Amino acid sequence: MEKTFVMVKPDGVQRGLIGEIVSRFEKKGYQLVAAKLMTVSRELAEKHYAEHKEKPFFGELVDFITSGPVFAMVWQGQNVIAGARQMMGKTNPADAAPGTIRGDFGISVGMNIIHGSDSPESAEREINLWFGEQELITYDKTINKWIG
Ligand code: PPS
Repeated sequence: MEKTFVMVKPDGVQRGLIGEIVSRFEKKGYQLVAAKLMTVSRELAEKHYAEHKEKPFFGELVDFITSGPVFAMVWQGQNVIAGARQMMGKTNPADAAPGTIRGDFGISVGMNIIHGSDSPESAEREINLWFGEQELITYDKTINKWIG
């Protein structure tokens, strides 16, 4: 079963959106297999966003993600990587459709509430970066029997 890394960013935590976001993923039918509220070191932030190291906004991005607690999660389900990105909406909240998390709650591209892995390779890299193997929980969820 596919897994993806999802993080409520500091603006989402500060605005009290953890519950709303977890609820949307649960209602969709995905299974939460790991979660933690944590502060992010600059080292972890720089590793996480390493592909954007040369971008003009890199420093701002690292400053932002280390500015307050984040809520890091791993979600599991069929096509969850693409599905989570659909639920999040476009990176710039100004372009994100109503009904998506960024479309409903986000205002600026810098503070866009949520991060989700953009490919199977990113998902694997990011899950291993943010969580130890023993932090991923395996358990039965009744709905898995309905959605296959
Ligand atoms: S790119 O250039 O297309 O690869 O970048 P993009 O995928 O749009 O964005 C990558 C992450 O950088 C954040 N971002 C920004 N932060 C601060 N300022 C500016 N101008 C900015 N532009 C993009 C964006 O929110 C993405 O964060 P994640 O956590 O990956 O969604």
